[in-house]
Amino acid sequence: MAMVSVFKNYEELSVFAAEQIISVVQQKPAAVLCLAAGNTPKLTYQKVVALAKERKVDFSAAIFIGLDEWIGIGPTIEGSCYNFLNELLFAPLSIQLNHIHFFDAIENDPETECLRIDNIINVLGGIDLTLVGIGMNGHVGFNEPGFDPNLNAHVVVLDAVTSKVGQKYFKENRELTKGITLGIAQIMASGKVLLLANGKNKAGIIHKTLQENIAVSVPASFIREHPNGLILLDEEAASELP
Ligand code: F6R
Repeated sequence: MAMVSVFKNYEELSVFAAEQIISVVQQKPAAVLCLAAGNTPKLTYQKVVALAKERKVDFSAAIFIGLDEWIGIGPTIEGSCYNFLNELLFAPLSIQLNHIHFFDAIENDPETECLRIDNIINVLGGIDLTLVGIGMNGHVGFNEPGFDPNLNAHVVVLDAVTSKVGQKYFKENRELTKGITLGIAQIMASGKVLLLANGKNKAGIIHKTLQENIAVSVPASFIREHPNGLILLDEEAASELP
């Protein structure tokens, strides 16, 4: 069962999550990491970069797998998952391009991309650490409410909540109707999973995730069953828990 930890604030939560990533890479320099984009882990990644520089942690052998991507949004567009991670992590840590495996649904057929990424994960022997956020509807990656828990990487018609909330990442209005995501099965097969949530607006969905039955209507609830899962909350996100 995953462990739930509540931190005083976003800063403390982010430092803890960053230490987890640093420690996986210290133990296994060629670790395979799968990291969500989005506002939640922003500070975690800034802390990872700062700690890596301060402690001279070598990320040059680490491999990065994309968790998800908006279909139709290219890697150079600010707001795409690739662009987000590139700005915050890959560029500051000088990660080589051949160590980064993201879905490219612009150049390639999305279904083929799913198989390509599945294959890379298999060849690498699985993911060592996955960090996910939680959507306002309980999604993880783009595994939306009602998802099929047996799928590996797949194309998703985005939930209306995700299409609407997702606009926050873009400077101009974007058509966000489809996404491509790793399946929950691949996330659950990771050696370690961190689920992060901060802020008052996540309190309701965190309550559902942790207090109701594990169900496909709340994809994040599956993470509770990860044997090496850490559900990391700040006090605001935890404020509706008993
Ligand atoms: C992003 C991702 C999404 C986000 C979720 C929360 O790569 O996989 O599932 O983690 O939508 O987003 P924020 O952190 O912006 O609230």
